[in-house]
Amino acid sequence: MTIKTVGVIGAGQMGNGIAQVFAASGYDVVMQDVSLDFCKKGFAVIEKSLNRMADKGKISTDDRDAILKRITLTDNVSDLAKCELAVEAATERIDLKLEIFKKLDETLPKDAILASNTSSISITKISSATKRPEKVIGMHFMNPVPIMKGLEIIKGLATSDDTASTIESLGEKLGKTIVRSNDFPGFIANRVLMPMINEGITALNEGVASREDIDSCMKACCNFPMGPLELADLIGLDTVLAIINVLHTELGDPRYRPNPLLRKYVEAGWFGRKTGRGFYEY
Ligand code: CAA
Repeated sequence: MTIKTVGVIGAGQMGNGIAQVFAASGYDVVMQDVSLDFCKKGFAVIEKSLNRMADKGKISTDDRDAILKRITLTDNVSDLAKCELAVEAATERIDLKLEIFKKLDETLPKDAILASNTSSISITKISSATKRPEKVIGMHFMNPVPIMKGLEIIKGLATSDDTASTIESLGEKLGKTIVRSNDFPGFIANRVLMPMINEGITALNEGVASREDIDSCMKACCNFPMGPLELADLIGLDTVLAIINVLHTELGDPRYRPNPLLRKYVEAGWFGRKTGRGFYEY
């Protein structure tokens, strides 16, 4: 089937970025969150991002207006009934994702594809909440979504080749570089990235160096665009902890144990940029 309208579940930092890239590629988007207030906040982030692009001459103001017009907001999953694709970008919690996928399965047309932007949770497990596991797939965007080129595509155990090739072509239309991963905890990006971030936090906690020196070292010595602590603040420490917990629990190896300092920050509500405080103050 031809994909024209895409439902995005979640208007947070990943959800609004995903909505933006689909709308910028000409798709109609229905962005859903639990309240219209959350949706409006997500929409304001898209406006800001598009304004920035327009100010820099990367898009015209007409393009910006047309992209914004293609996005509608709702607090009701039933409004996704006409979507040929849904991309779920809710909080990284398995119970929540299972509930959402059950609802999406009941709501969307039988041949629609249901994708999850999960960073680490099993696509096979998520697909078990539906009666169409062959049409469930992982579509893992990177933060900030409009800027980052990479898109991980993950087939669950039952995902069909047809579903995977449709989503790969779609990803290319969005201008993304496709990488394919099998369905293992953390896939590729977070299997490699999260232990590095956790080690940066461990280095801070053990007094190896200051937060600034740890980040500066990884930028100046290893040519990373951001150090591990500032990147953790960008991703959100709650999300980082949730992903590391999945790696630790699912792989059962102590090397993925989250550093207690990360836990403490999350317990304090220091989630990084989005709450104004993480390893740095914003
Ligand atoms: N919308 C539109 N434009 C944006 C933007 C946004 N949200 N964010 C940044 N930009 C633009 C800027 O306007 C700027 O444009 P120009 O080049 O035209 O000037 C460009 O992007 C670069 O931004 P900045 O100059 O502000 O800052 P920078 O050069 O330091 O780049 C960065 C910022 C792109 C975030 C860069 O630091 C970077 O690549 N960091 C690493 C990010 C990363 O690793 N992401 C993956 C995280 S892991 C993940 O997401 C997966 C997961 O499951 C946790």
